Order: sequence, then C-alpha cells, then structure tokens
Amino acid sequence: MWSGASSPVCSAETPAGRPGTTRYPRRVKILSVVGARPQFVKLAPVSHALAGRAEHIVVHTGQHYDERLSDVFFRDLDIPQPDENLAVGSGGHGVQTGAMLAGLEPVFQKYAPDWVLVYGDTNSTLAAAIDAVKLHLPLAHLEAGLRSFNKRMPEEHNRVLTDHASDLCLAPTEVAMRHLTDEGLAARSLLVGDVMTDVLYRVRDRVIADGTAAPAGVEPGAYYVATLHRPDNTDDPARLGAIIAELGRLDHPVLLLVHPRLAQKAADHGLDLATGAIRPIDPLGYPELIAAVLGSAGVITDSGGLQKEAFLLRVPCTTIRSETEWVETVELGWNALVDADLTILGATVQRPAPAPTDAAPYGDGHAAERVADALTA
Ligand code: UD1
Repeated sequence: MWSGASSPVCSAETPAGRPGTTRYPRRVKILSVVGARPQFVKLAPVSHALAGRAEHIVVHTGQHYDERLSDVFFRDLDIPQPDENLAVGSGGHGVQTGAMLAGLEPVFQKYAPDWVLVYGDTNSTLAAAIDAVKLHLPLAHLEAGLRSFNKRMPEEHNRVLTDHASDLCLAPTEVAMRHLTDEGLAARSLLVGDVMTDVLYRVRDRVIADGTAAPAGVEPGAYYVATLHRPDNTDDPARLGAIIAELGRLDHPVLLLVHPRLAQKAADHGLDLATGAIRPIDPLGYPELIAAVLGSAGVITDSGGLQKEAFLLRVPCTTIRSETEWVETVELGWNALVDADLTILGATVQRPAPAPTDAAPYGDGHAAERVADALTA
C-alpha cells in the first residue's frame, strides 16, 4: 500500500521526530545532492513539493556538465539553479567519487542540513552518502531498494551501499520495499512511489496539450527511439559493433540519442553509428524525449529510467541488458530483455504489441508529496 500523507512517515529516528526532543521551530533544511541527468529529472518534482515547506539547498556535483545532459533539464523542468556546483566532471570511478567526497564535505559543513537527500545510484549519490555519514548528518535515499543483483554494474554497488548508510530509505515500488526488508532495512524504509512518474505525467500532459512534435524526418508511429550508454554495452568494440549492426537492420529508422560515453567509445573503436537504419542525433531535452517516445513504435535502451518511461507511456520497450531493476515492466509484458544473444534483437523489437494493462506499479504521480511529508514531519 502507498503510504498516505496522514500515515506515520517513518520509523527512523529523524531530527524532527526523535522522541523527547523539541520540534524544530524553524523550517527543516534539506540539502539535495545531484550530479547526473536522471537525478535532475527526479529533483524537479521533489523541489516543487518542498517549495514553501522547507529550506531546500541544491548541490550539483558537476558529474554531468554538458549543456544537453545538465542545464537543459534545469531550464525545461523549472528547477532552481543549484546553490553550489562542484564542477567535478569526468574521471575513473575512484577519481570522480573521491573528488566529490572531498568537495561535498565543506559544503555539508557550511549548510549543516537537517537532511541530506540523495537520488538513485550514481557516483554522486555514493559520495554524498559517505560524507553525510562521516559528518553525522541524517541521510535519506530516494529510489531506495532497487536491485539488479548484477555486481558488474557500478550503480548496484552505489545503491546497496547508500541504502545501508541511510537513515531513511524512500522506496519507489513494493518490490523495492521487499528488497529492503530482505536486507534488514524495513524499520527505516517507507514506500512513497516513484517521483519520475510524477514528472513524467506532468510533462506528458504538457507535451500532448502543446502538440510538441516528434523529431523531424521520421513518420509518427514508424520509428524507434534508442539510447545506449552502459559500459557493458559500449566499452567492448565487438559488443558495441554487434549492437550497432543489429539496430542498423531494423525495419524502421532508429533515432539513436547519442550519450557522450557512446560517442566517445564509438570513435575510439572506429565504429560508425550512422549504420543502416540508425539516425544518430544529440541527446534530447526531457519534453522532447517524451514526445519522441510517445510517437514511436518502440524503445530500445539500456537506461533504467527510459524502460519505465516507455511503460508509463505504453510504448513497447526492448532492454539490452541481462536484468532490470524495474521488473514490473517485464512481468506486465511491456519490456523484453536481450543480452547475450543479440541476433534476437530485431525479432524482439518487432514483436506484436503487448496486452493492454492499467496496472500502476510506480504509484499515482504524487510520490514527491510523500517525500516532502516524510522529510518535514
Ligand atoms: C552516469 C551514472 C548512471 C546514469 C547515467 C545517466 C554512475 C556510475 N553512472 O553514467 O547511473 O544512468 O549517468 O546518463 O554514476 N561525459 C561527457 N559529458 C558529460 C558527462 C559525461 O562528455 O556531461 C562523458 C565522460 O567523459 C565519460 C562518460 O561520458 O567518459 C561517462 O560519464 P559518467 O558520468 O562517468 O557516467 P555515465 O556513463 O554518464
């Protein structure tokens, strides 16, 4: 069951709710740490839900710094400019995470927030979680409890370590709550729903009302939208070459939204992304992405968020991974996984449409309000 606004918000010891202590006479101070594209999307509804209810400080680590991976989201989704930007940039996991760890510590000391709020599973999330723990600052993890059970994914380490360091685990789904329970974290976990669903519904309605068009040069309903950025798919030349070859053979044009990692790896491997049906284009802003997916015949991706967005827009998705954290999309027939045997990619993408469903495993579009309730109680 979704936790209603009036239900007890958590059983964690919160600064505002600890028995026997005075409640804060001032507004709760919440410090959000974000750094990568999906986190800006999650920040949008949370920032709107906290407006007027809490003092909200936003810290950008600078993990993503390209205009199209960062600034455009703040603009399109009405997110206030970050209060601090560490401009950490790219690097190996140790270098990148270490630079954030060093950069966040003085920021946390400067603001001394009542809560540090971290999002998802990136290196920015892990660095902020470690700093919060070291400085004895209460830590809340949004999108807690997701598991791929694939230890090759850096995101899996990041999310497991962050959940176990957190005082409050804010879970998006029943399945995530089960994982947290299995790991002994039930007492500090709360089911709030998925905040990406909140923002998706809002932007979908706007895109439909405004008549935002799908990208130029493709026929509505007769193209695919594809993204690819995971190291397991981009870093091995043979693997990336095989994926490009299969995408190039599809029956409709494939709009490939090229993430910087993909551009860099394709160039390193001497691979041409503009092969066969593939039309490589720059990454899109969020409303343009939603419009492109809505008008497409299907999505092909290795992104976590896009699998779920495709499901919520009821567009069939094919995921180039061996597992997914969003298992509901597969169980309900809207997502199919393709991994070792890439020769089945074409037939999988071109499969018949799944049975309609009105299931809502990702909540009702009001998750961010529950997050705000939990943090300001
Ligand atoms: C990161 C997250 C992943 C998330 C993804 C969304 C981690 C471990 N991974 O992966 O969870 O799904 O963001 O996109 O935190 N680059 C640029 N410009 C930028 C950002 C990156 O050119 O603005 C290049 C860097 O040179 C680097 C590559 O992209 O080589 C990867 O960037 P990085 O932030 O390390 O990881 P992502 O693959 O984006």
